Amino acid sequence: MRIVCIGGGPAGLYFGLLMKKANPAHRITVVERNRPYDTFGWGVVFSDATMENMRACDAETAREIEDAFNHWDDIEVLIKGRRMRTTGHGFVGIGRKRLLNILQARCQALGVELVFDREVESDIEFPEADLVVACDGVNSKLRNRYAATFEPDLSVRPNRYIWLGTEKSFDAFTFDFRRTEHGWFQAHIYKFDEKTSTFIVETTEETLRAHGLDRAGQDESVAFCQTLFADVLEGAPLLTNSRHLRGSAWLNFSRLVCGKWNHFNGKSHVVLMGDAAHTAHFAIGSGTKLALEDAIELARQFERLGDAPALIPDVLAAYEEVRRVDVARIQNAARNAMEWFEVVGSRYADTLEPEQFMYSLLTRSQRISHENLRLRDPVWLEGYERWFARRGGLNADPGSRPTPPMFTPYRVRGVTLPNRIVMSPMAMYSAKDGVPNDFHLVHLGSRALGGAGLVFGEMTCVSPDARITPGCLGLWNDEQAAAWRRIVDFIHGHSAAKVGLQIGHAGRKGSTRVAWEGIDQPLADGNWQLLAPSATSYLPHGGIPRAMSLGDMARVKADFAAAAERGAASGFDVLELHCAHGYLLSSFLSPLTNRREDLYGGRHENRARYPLEVFAAIRAVWPEERPISVRLSCHDWFDGGNTPEDAAIFARLFKEAGADLIDCSSGQVVREEKPVYGRLFQTPFADKIRNEVGIATIAVGAISEADHANSIIAAGRADLCALARPHLADPAWTLHEAAKIGFKSIPWPRQYHSGKAPYEANLERAAAQTPGGRA
Ligand SMILES: Cc1cc2nc3c(=O)[nH]c(=O)nc-3n(C[C@H](O)[C@H](O)[C@H](O)COP(=O)(O)OP(=O)(O)OC[C@H]3O[C@@H](n4cnc5c(N)ncnc54)[C@H](O)[C@@H]3O)c2cc1C
Ligand SMILES: Cc1cc2nc3c(=O)[nH]c(=O)nc-3n(C[C@H](O)[C@H](O)[C@H](O)COP(=O)(O)O)c2cc1C
Repeated sequence: MRIVCIGGGPAGLYFGLLMKKANPAHRITVVERNRPYDTFGWGVVFSDATMENMRACDAETAREIEDAFNHWDDIEVLIKGRRMRTTGHGFVGIGRKRLLNILQARCQALGVELVFDREVESDIEFPEADLVVACDGVNSKLRNRYAATFEPDLSVRPNRYIWLGTEKSFDAFTFDFRRTEHGWFQAHIYKFDEKTSTFIVETTEETLRAHGLDRAGQDESVAFCQTLFADVLEGAPLLTNSRHLRGSAWLNFSRLVCGKWNHFNGKSHVVLMGDAAHTAHFAIGSGTKLALEDAIELARQFERLGDAPALIPDVLAAYEEVRRVDVARIQNAARNAMEWFEVVGSRYADTLEPEQFMYSLLTRSQRISHENLRLRDPVWLEGYERWFARRGGLNADPGSRPTPPMFTPYRVRGVTLPNRIVMSPMAMYSAKDGVPNDFHLVHLGSRALGGAGLVFGEMTCVSPDARITPGCLGLWNDEQAAAWRRIVDFIHGHSAAKVGLQIGHAGRKGSTRVAWEGIDQPLADGNWQLLAPSATSYLPHGGIPRAMSLGDMARVKADFAAAAERGAASGFDVLELHCAHGYLLSSFLSPLTNRREDLYGGRHENRARYPLEVFAAIRAVWPEERPISVRLSCHDWFDGGNTPEDAAIFARLFKEAGADLIDCSSGQVVREEKPVYGRLFQTPFADKIRNEVGIATIAVGAISEADHANSIIAAGRADLCALARPHLADPAWTLHEAAKIGFKSIPWPRQYHSGKAPYEANLERAAAQTPGGRA
């Protein structure tokens, strides 16, 4: 085959040499616009796993790279005068020049033709090529030429960074955070040869401008960074090798995703590779890894399917299918890490204590979890757990295992939860006339016996016409209050759990069938009048609500207050106001459902006015020493709807009104929503609100293991973790997860005590049989 690689970066060179090695009959040319020794940048890092891949592909290159590598294990974090270190993180660093020179030499030895100093404008310049590899970097001309096919989606990120170097050797991957009068700067520092380190300085656009650095020349910017990071540099100067750049030396990272990676131009197949196809932010240092692994995969598919020109379409399709999955995984992690650095100044650096700040930094990509950290550096993690537990008021004896974060108690107003796990409210549609019955007693009672620190009952409706379905629970009369009292007393009498009451009004989503007879579908008969901020229905064939009059609003507010008062008398510990999921109060908050033109519609303060009035009414009757949580839909997942930014505004208003917790859910506001689900998908909302607004939060949504909960709580992304569906699968979720992570100090109900040790022993035995496994 005749193969031309446009771009002599890591992707093009490595692919060229792998193909030539696999079949010396191929004619392969790599065309590069620069001269052999010119390159922008300093060192790159990648992981041990990439190295292993490379060893399997071409031992010779791998050996040379390994000889030139600098391997290190430690991460050091400097902030607010503290210097903290952890180990076990396994990175390798190499100068970009050195890496390219090794690859160039190997290409030459194998007979790959290298053409330097040639700017390629188009693939058409190589009509004889069977395959043109577009590995010409993030600004790929070839990709742009076929943008209609490749569908590049390039988002320019808000932060600005400058890529510098220094002749000082750092023995750890170092993150240095410095506050100036205008905001925070961070340096990402790693050594890549015996005497040189990469030194990337990053800040927000706002802070950059406030310092006038957007207008500064290179020398001025370098001098600024040198002064700011003088402590860590210890006199070593900062150096630049990007003098060729026009404009500001402070760059914006561009995040790139492409809809398709290959194209046939009529003569040759064109395929994207490396940064031309996708980018991953330097916050997790994976751009070079992805480029090299693309090259490996494409070469592997030629080996697997055959390297004749006729097979190229099959090979390219298989390459794209395999790589897309891996690239998406890394890009997601890189995005999380990148976003962490974009908000670090406004969200974490000032608020979190240095210990927790460091934990948050280490878990920024959300690929490294609590138990991953334990594998990497058990001593550091145990120290952190001990610190966290002490901060929560636990004084673990130094010889014993510290309490994992999710099992530390949590105090809010006068209520102390025994741990951080919450059973999330879940409608069971099993009541008659709103009265809790034996089903509810057993259902909620068994979850309390199962170890959750706080057990919420389902959305409990404040009047008959506030119900979602005829099977919903209520709290508008004394019979209901007495039945609730029985459940609350049972839980208080037989477990350490606290009990939560979620009160709500279905609004325009009311008068529907129980879930198993058609969720959200109107009742066949016996429908009641719906109320909403505006007269629009949830489903096209659903009941049209009445836009609430001031009289309706006063009546419903009084119903909420009466339910809260009954709830307090029934002994509930925590009250939650349901302002999520498109029910009445939620539909006031969302601009998609609130079209009012009076004082209750329009800007945020107006849309929040009625929910806040209801909040004030319940706060007035709810005992001072007991907390109130507010559940919000933090994202409507639909254009024109509320976003996490809006949710933060509402959270602040509820905080000012006296709310203690924000329970961060999302969606279900409009039928046409397009939610993006995934593991812990709503946790970022809890994180944002907690750390930007300064109010405690509950994270919920696709949290399913102790490792998730520990990671969230330990990083300060939320104060509590609520789990719904896992509690349907396992009433004793909390006790079982404790056993799985080997935490034995959590008490089981005394009646069940003899089941505890055998359960733990079985898990230990199973773990011992799994290589490297924990229970
Ligand atoms: C600040 C910063 C830090 C980074 N740190 C790391 C890190 O620590 N670890 C890591 O793995 N990655 C890192 N990267 C990313 C890494 O540099 C890239 O992801 C990686 O180099 C991609 O390889 P590539 O071969 O696809 O593209 P590139 O390395 O960009 O190579 C493309 C080549 O094509 C050439 N070219 C472009 N257009 C033409 C043309 N028209 N004609 C001829 N030649 C052309 C260019 O000159 C270049 O040599 C970092 C990036 C930045 C910006
Ligand atoms: C059967 C069921 C009923 C639910 N009912 C309620 C409810 O009454 N009130 C509420 O706020 N959320 C309700 N939810 C949402 C859950 O509280 C929770 O936010 C959601 O299921 C995501 O958590 P999970 O991934 O742990 O299941 C319900 C969820 C389920 C599965």
